[in-house]
Amino acid sequence: MAVNLKGKDMLTLRDWSTEEIWQVLKTAEQLKMFRKIGHVYQPLQGKALAMIFTKPSTRTRVSFEAGMFQLGGHALYLSANDLQLGRGETIEDTGRVLSRYVDGIMIRTYKQADVERLAAGATIPVINGLTDDYHPCQVLADLLTIYEKFGRIAGLKMAYIGDGNNMTHSLMIGGAKLGMSVVCASPAGFTPSPAIVDYAKSLAAPSGATVGVVASARDAVNGADIIYTDVFVSMGQDADREQKLAALADYQVTPQLMAAANPGAIFMHCLPAHRGEEVAAEVIDGPQSVVFDEAENRLHAQNALLSLVI
Ligand code: CP
Ligand code: NVA
Repeated sequence: MAVNLKGKDMLTLRDWSTEEIWQVLKTAEQLKMFRKIGHVYQPLQGKALAMIFTKPSTRTRVSFEAGMFQLGGHALYLSANDLQLGRGETIEDTGRVLSRYVDGIMIRTYKQADVERLAAGATIPVINGLTDDYHPCQVLADLLTIYEKFGRIAGLKMAYIGDGNNMTHSLMIGGAKLGMSVVCASPAGFTPSPAIVDYAKSLAAPSGATVGVVASARDAVNGADIIYTDVFVSMGQDADREQKLAALADYQVTPQLMAAANPGAIFMHCLPAHRGEEVAAEVIDGPQSVVFDEAENRLHAQNALLSLVI
């Protein structure tokens, strides 16, 4: 039965139940079909979304902006430097004021705590468009892609190879909530947050799925249906760049690594990608790669989210 999600924030997938996540995915399927058949669906006429960015973006900015237009609404791109936020106005006051003008806020920034402070000040839904800790909208698109490719999510196994980062955290939480095992292979010093891994383990246990961290990429891909990677150096982490690239050099997703996964395994990457760094060009541009379907699904998953919460 559909739940009323009006007004709900998307700060992390922690706050979304399995049923609520499925409601987004099922709505996304329907909205994607509407677009394919040219059916115009505009539940957000007269509504506006403020989009605050303190980091760059291609997919997030364009998919939210185009999505609001398609749903009959309007999106405003706000660079944090152009807001009074950049001159010391508090993030809570920014949330209070924007709530008087618009109907939702999407924010991409560094600290997760800032997104939570914005939501505390706002009286309208706040959507996390990526922080140092989480990237929930990407994972909604990823889950939609996995569901389309396999017809199910529960019981599948994802091997995440590389830097333990915001993507790893959100994939572990989203995967575990939907019964998918997520095993991360990362070198010491670049593993995901132990607290988040433990939390995801506790979510996975009832469904029989597993969440874990191993050192060997080869071990992680054994029995995997999905191989996922992300950039080795995330936005805002350039100070560690050389050290990270050296530590992660053996964690590139290569054709040999793909061959060690299940037959029929797919390759996923949230993009942007660096061919020859975290993934070999033959893999990301090869037949097992679904990265552009995955990127497209940002639009459909977020249109679903926007239509449900605004
Ligand atoms: N995957 C993703 O969030 O891409 P952008 O950084 O281009 O928004
Ligand atoms: N982990 C990457 C994801 C980019 C979409 C970053 O934070 O830069």
